[in-house]
Amino acid sequence: MFEQRSIEVEVRATRALARDVVEFELARVDGAPLEPAAPGSHVDLRVEPPGGLAQLRQYSITNALARGRLDSYRIAVARSAQGRGGSAWLHDTIRKGSRLRLGQPRQLFAQHEAAGAALFIAGGIGVTPLLPMARAAAAAGADWRLVYLVRSEERAAYLDELLELDARRVLLHVSGPRDRRLDLASILRQLGQDTHVYCCGPQGLMQAVRELTAGRAPGSVHFESFGAGEAAGEAAGAAAGADHGFELRLARSGLRAAVPPGSSVLEVIEQLGIAHPSSCREGICASCEVRVLDGRCEHRDQILEPHERQQDERFFPCVSRCAGDSLTLDL
Ligand code: FES
Repeated sequence: MFEQRSIEVEVRATRALARDVVEFELARVDGAPLEPAAPGSHVDLRVEPPGGLAQLRQYSITNALARGRLDSYRIAVARSAQGRGGSAWLHDTIRKGSRLRLGQPRQLFAQHEAAGAALFIAGGIGVTPLLPMARAAAAAGADWRLVYLVRSEERAAYLDELLELDARRVLLHVSGPRDRRLDLASILRQLGQDTHVYCCGPQGLMQAVRELTAGRAPGSVHFESFGAGEAAGEAAGAAAGADHGFELRLARSGLRAAVPPGSSVLEVIEQLGIAHPSSCREGICASCEVRVLDGRCEHRDQILEPHERQQDERFFPCVSRCAGDSLTLDL
């Protein structure tokens, strides 16, 4: 799927944004404009770490615009020491003039309304989808604030751009070697009920924000995961021991199969000969989404909002499983 819909792009420029964070500016090789990408959009990028298989990585488009087309997309890549080599390969190998394959932009982290009141909460490189949202909010004259949590200031990518937008609306919190905590609870307590909250960062931060915003209006708190590779892998690994088998029923094709512990629903669908779309296989890109017709789900994706998890309608078979004995999907 990715191979058919991807395009070849050339690195037009690179820029060191912060410690261990590099920005890559990517443009079509033929010079044509790229597909429109609204704030919060991301693209799949094919990475080819040495000695490993080619993989797809998801990066937010940091110059995404609410309207109009772009000549180039900018992405920011943080080097991950514990990752699977994709970010190190980009840092060490990719230079101006290098060519890469890029998927179409997708938006799973949409800005509700640029002009509406908003609190953006960024953890580290999680600032990347929030930067274009903050730009859109500033351009619309919205009442916005951005809380930016970093381990050290030298790691704060795009800090200058944010301060230039409106320094009074940006709160930089440096946790430092002693892991100094920010009182997010009190910041969130002061928000009006019509303010939308957008959070992107490590799992721990997002979990804390989830808990602190549990009483807010459904649909007003939005999350995007990044670097889910390691985190999701760990979670999946931890959960694998507790996995149980169940029956998978595919309503349209009339097929049935057992999903054993340790195999994903997506793998079983593929073993049944169904060419089902997929990309990240980590529950973050949404390309494998399928509708649930019957059965209780154990959602392990990073996409659904809390209220959607209760509904058991949308399902991501690359990571999610069945909470009962049988699951029927619209396939
Ligand atoms: S393949 Fe990306 S969410 Fe399933």
